[in-house]
Amino acid sequence: MQTPMMIGAETVAPDTISLTSYAPVADLGALPVNAFVIKAAQPILVDTGLASLREPFLKALSSSIDPGDLRWIWLSHMDADHLGNLDAVLALAPQATVITNVLGMAKLALRGFDLTRVHLLPPGARIDAGDRELVPLKPAYYDAPETIGFFDTRTRVLFCADAFGTLMQEPAPEAAAIAPQALVDGMITWAAIDAPWLGMIDRTAFGRELGAIERLDPSAIISGHLPVARNVTRRLTGCLDRALAAGRIAAPDHAEIERLFKGDCAAA
Ligand SMILES: [Fe+2]
Ligand SMILES: [Fe+2]
Repeated sequence: MQTPMMIGAETVAPDTISLTSYAPVADLGALPVNAFVIKAAQPILVDTGLASLREPFLKALSSSIDPGDLRWIWLSHMDADHLGNLDAVLALAPQATVITNVLGMAKLALRGFDLTRVHLLPPGARIDAGDRELVPLKPAYYDAPETIGFFDTRTRVLFCADAFGTLMQEPAPEAAAIAPQALVDGMITWAAIDAPWLGMIDRTAFGRELGAIERLDPSAIISGHLPVARNVTRRLTGCLDRALAAGRIAAPDHAEIERLFKGDCAAA
């Protein structure tokens, strides 16, 4: 894959549609870049995809829902691969309000964004979408401090933003379809690039974060950078825990970073 590619809209859980694309990352493979439509009583778009795929992204969105019906746009964080089509979506969705927290709002303000379209999420608050609540949760790891995931109380789907992202050699319909070793290697390589601080954290403390996800027992984990994960929660958490124990999560050195990012890099 030489350029970003839109796969389209695919149902990944009840009421939950993935707007799936992939972005090449140098010679390491491709990174999934997913946004999601949640067909709640008050419909929600989660993130807004890659700007370079605007036309096919909006087409996939419109095939899933009339954008004019969107009530909420949940922004996991303000990286370009999650904000790419925000302005274009808002133009099609006059009823939609952006959900973010204080730091997210400040970053939007720095972009000159119209803050009258922002719903500021206070600490501890939930989003009432009519037939369910979205409970904000901090993912186990992330690359921007404003990051907010959520747990959908109706479907028990967990959205974890960038966490559990993986590089892949070819598209797959779900995480369970990726060969186990390829999933381990892809997750560890991407974690070292996207959240290299993971290699420095206390394993016991991180283990508590991973254990909390296991106890939550989500029906599915959806991520911006992983195909939908059903029945593989302990594979995902175990992979990271073992990688941490083995010292496998190490940031690339300067030469490697220069090699990886000398061209266009679409995602973070
Ligand atoms: Fe990110
Ligand atoms: Fe991302």
